[in-house]
Amino acid sequence: MIVAIDGPAGAGKSSVARASAAALGFSYLDSGAMYRSVALAALQRGRPPADIAGELQIELGDRVLLDGRDVTEAIRDRAVASAASRVAADPVVRAALVTKQRELLSDGDWVAEGRDIGTVVAPEAELKVFLTATPAERARRRALEGREDVAAVTRELEARDDRDREREHSPLRAATEAIELDTTGLRLEQVVERVVALVGKRSASGTPER
Ligand code: CDP
Repeated sequence: MIVAIDGPAGAGKSSVARASAAALGFSYLDSGAMYRSVALAALQRGRPPADIAGELQIELGDRVLLDGRDVTEAIRDRAVASAASRVAADPVVRAALVTKQRELLSDGDWVAEGRDIGTVVAPEAELKVFLTATPAERARRRALEGREDVAAVTRELEARDDRDREREHSPLRAATEAIELDTTGLRLEQVVERVVALVGKRSASGTPER
């Protein structure tokens, strides 16, 4: 089974997807880590992202390895996030990474998170969740994580979300059949419970609750 979790930055996708995968015994795919890795490599090597996206070895797990180097912390940098959303608008980069993502998802049970999992990467996913939260809540969470200034984080998230929503290729949007879940004011465990319950319903009836 594939569970697709899409949504804007700071909506809680990574925490929810990781914890839901652990609760369900599924593997977890962080597609954003791939875009971040391509952006980091392009910045560090001074190469066009489209030239290197297909060649890079990106290994996802407890640590993120880029051509064997541990970049787990480096890809979380705010400048890398911003570069990732620019790189992610390039259809050549997207095609290379979507191929890698589909290879992984072809075997076993997965919770996969990103912007286009339910719409492009795995339109066949049995359950699609679109996670949202108010812009203020998303900025507050991100600022807490990085011990950063809320105003600066708000500007970065807004710029990135606008780019992600307005790009021509695979823009951020909810799949028509996605279940929208607003996480504002909810604790992580509450959101995970909801996702796990939706998976249970899906497995039992073949049709997720709306
Ligand atoms: O964790 P956060 O939501 O802040 O970002 P991320 O999921 O790590 O993604 C970083 C950037 O990669 C996003 O702003 C998108 O531009 C891009 N991305 C994408 O285009 N498609 C995906 N499936 C995942 C990420």
